[in-house]
Amino acid sequence: MPTNSKSPAVSSNNPCPFLRALVSEGLLPDDVASLGQVTDVITRVAKTGDGQPNLPGAAIRAIAAGANGLNPLQVVRNAKDSVQLNALRNGPLDKKGAGSGILDTEANVVKAKLDRLDEFASEKLSASGESERGLDLSELVHMMNENFKRAAGRRRVIDRFLMDGEWPILLKVMGKSGKNGRYLSVDEVRQLFLKRKLPERMVSQLA
Ligand code: HEM
Repeated sequence: MPTNSKSPAVSSNNPCPFLRALVSEGLLPDDVASLGQVTDVITRVAKTGDGQPNLPGAAIRAIAAGANGLNPLQVVRNAKDSVQLNALRNGPLDKKGAGSGILDTEANVVKAKLDRLDEFASEKLSASGESERGLDLSELVHMMNENFKRAAGRRRVIDRFLMDGEWPILLKVMGKSGKNGRYLSVDEVRQLFLKRKLPERMVSQLA
């Protein structure tokens, strides 16, 4: 379902909240994108974040190249051509519920799992001195460890490593430079999942 009549629909086979927002914001297509396009868009969006974070293009390319399958032919095909953003579900990066579980297998937001974010958060002071709920790196690590623990019996060892390329990178891109360090605003993460929207402070710089 589109977030509003103007935002494009996003395939339920795209389980990445960040890529879903990029599609919804009209920055990436819902289906097939070239690796160059994915890398350019992500690095450009990252630059609009607090402190103009610099994401290494090579690392993004490497993730995207393996996203639809890790057999050598598939990787070569992805690396040469494109990544299929509407076919990430069940690919090698899909942790099949071993992550936060905020998006179910149909990419619907599970409210209880979204609300659970706050259990790991604490009060943070923004740069302008306002207080809000937020998650810093150590709180994100705590959450990822708990997510991994919760998935005992249905997780792969690699899932815990994959998590390090998700929440901490989101912190790098969408984090706010608060008075006591960088944190993800719980409100902004909720908006990312629920409305598939990037923070206005970032979008306004893309125009
Ligand atoms: C700056 C770039 C990116 C950020 C910040 C980001 C962030 C995230 C986050 C926070 C999650 C959620 C994990 C959870 O719910 O526990 C996630 C999941 C996922 N991401 Fe991304 N992502 C990025 C780029 C990519 C790229 C380039 C791909 C592949 C083309 C990708 C594929 C996925 C997939 C398949 C999942 C689902 C994993 C699961 O089962 O939990 N992401 N990402």
